Amino acid sequence: MVGSTEASPAPNAGPSQPPAEIKKDGAPDAKPGSTEQIEKADAQMTDVAPQKPQQPPEPNAQPSKTPEAGSAPSTMKIDDVRSTAKAQRIAAHSHVKGLGLNPTGTAMQMGGGLVGQEQAREAAGIVVELIKTKKMAGRALLLAGGMGTGKTALALAIAQELGSKIPFCPMVGSEVYSSEVKKTEVLMENFRRAIGLRIKESKEVFEGEVIELTPEETENPLGGYGKTISQVVIGLKAGRGTKQLKLDPSIYESLQKERVCIGDVIYIEANSGAVKRVGRSDVYATEFDLEAEEYVPLPKGDVHKKKEVVQDVTLHDLDVANARPQGGRDIISMLNQMGKPKKTEITEKLRAEINKIVSGYIDQGVAELVPGVLFIDEVHMLDLECFAFLNRALESNLAPIVIFATNRGMTEVSGTDMRAPHGIPVDLLDRCLIIRTHPYSMEDIAVIIQIRAKVEDIILKDDNVVAALVEVAARTSLRYATQLLTPASILSSVKGQDHLTAADVKEADGLFYDAKASARILIESASKYIS
Ligand SMILES: Nc1ncnc2c1ncn2[C@@H]1O[C@H](COP(=O)(O)OP(=O)(O)O)[C@@H](O)[C@H]1O
Ligand SMILES: [Mg+2]
Repeated sequence: MVGSTEASPAPNAGPSQPPAEIKKDGAPDAKPGSTEQIEKADAQMTDVAPQKPQQPPEPNAQPSKTPEAGSAPSTMKIDDVRSTAKAQRIAAHSHVKGLGLNPTGTAMQMGGGLVGQEQAREAAGIVVELIKTKKMAGRALLLAGGMGTGKTALALAIAQELGSKIPFCPMVGSEVYSSEVKKTEVLMENFRRAIGLRIKESKEVFEGEVIELTPEETENPLGGYGKTISQVVIGLKAGRGTKQLKLDPSIYESLQKERVCIGDVIYIEANSGAVKRVGRSDVYATEFDLEAEEYVPLPKGDVHKKKEVVQDVTLHDLDVANARPQGGRDIISMLNQMGKPKKTEITEKLRAEINKIVSGYIDQGVAELVPGVLFIDEVHMLDLECFAFLNRALESNLAPIVIFATNRGMTEVSGTDMRAPHGIPVDLLDRCLIIRTHPYSMEDIAVIIQIRAKVEDIILKDDNVVAALVEVAARTSLRYATQLLTPASILSSVKGQDHLTAADVKEADGLFYDAKASARILIESASKYIS
């Protein structure tokens, strides 16, 4: 469908090198939809090298100077901030999609992948409300309950309810123990992962539907086989005419990464060359399409324009982006960097500077703070130093909502002989809203097992097999029973069955030991082990 209407550009418009040179066309009054009007924009977009001379700096756009250790930066680098969000440990909880509450806030017997535990779910629903209305800042939530009562599942459900725009950072208490990094440093990093910043910027972009995409190849100048891409010609169509751009090969990579093809609506940032795929042009909406696609209308106005771009980053992303080793792309500075450790330190000073800039942005109305959620599982693993840090950090005005989870009762605070409820000092406990989770009934366990089986594509045909699994769960634990599903299904498929039977469950149960059985055997045959 890329018609031959596309008169190709003058062949000798060779790759001129001046960086960030965007020639303005002299025809702003192109007739709507006139594809004949091909303007040649020589957008040689160089990459995001920090040394690049910037266009006349607007007060807040494209801050890309890296603060050096000594000099106080007036701007920070947000152009190429990459998300450092951790992959979540959801394998065991992939069925959890939300809290499953009615609009009135009462828990459905089953909803969002969760079953039972109604009281805790309703309480969690209120906490979600508090977080959304920003009334929870600086406070903490404690999920307390036995093993396998759904504390982690509940925390993830809260995160799901808050939506993907609110940062959620999960960690385990024992993560703070490292021989290289201070405990409080680990906590600080996670705190900052859980604080989001929504930055609104007005950026110069080229936006439109892709009507042409031709990489131009040349012989590899360094010799050898193969060809390199010397430039990419891309044609963009918007409400008021079309435009043809010649782009740097580095942009071709980002085009490929975003899987841009003809008919997609994209925009390219003029300064950084970053490519964003907005969706598929709705002209194609009638096509028979198996994949779920987002169809968007043809962008209005000119191809080359200013656009309000919203970027969600966390404070930790900013720390990392601004702490990266200094230096250019030339050989000398690369050599200099080789000796240095890859991971540069994020210093207190750098953080303070970022904080200052961030509050400046917030005051100017350029950015908005989005406090997220920090989830600390197994909180009883933390020691007094960490608790002291948490007490102080919760007070700060840049604090996320903190959710703790623990399965301990009255116990010693780690590293001391001071006893405290849940192993948490009372002064911190005092700041917490506490939600208790209770052991599940047999009926709930049966449903949870069926949900898990469905998620893992395991067919439970009759009630016998469910009963067998519930029996296992009652004797051992819910988690053991759900974990047994996969080995049992492997045993059953080896036998050529397409569904699980009670015999498979028994067989798998015979092959593995749950924690209690394993402990019993250790006690019975203690003499055979070294201790
Ligand atoms: N109410 C529930 N509904 C559905 N699945 C649940 C529910 N509670 C727990 N689970 C599942 O049971 C397993 C154990 O729960 P988990 O949240 O890990 O317990 P805890 O963190 O309290 O030890 C997980 O796979 C979890 O997703
Ligand atoms: Mg857990």
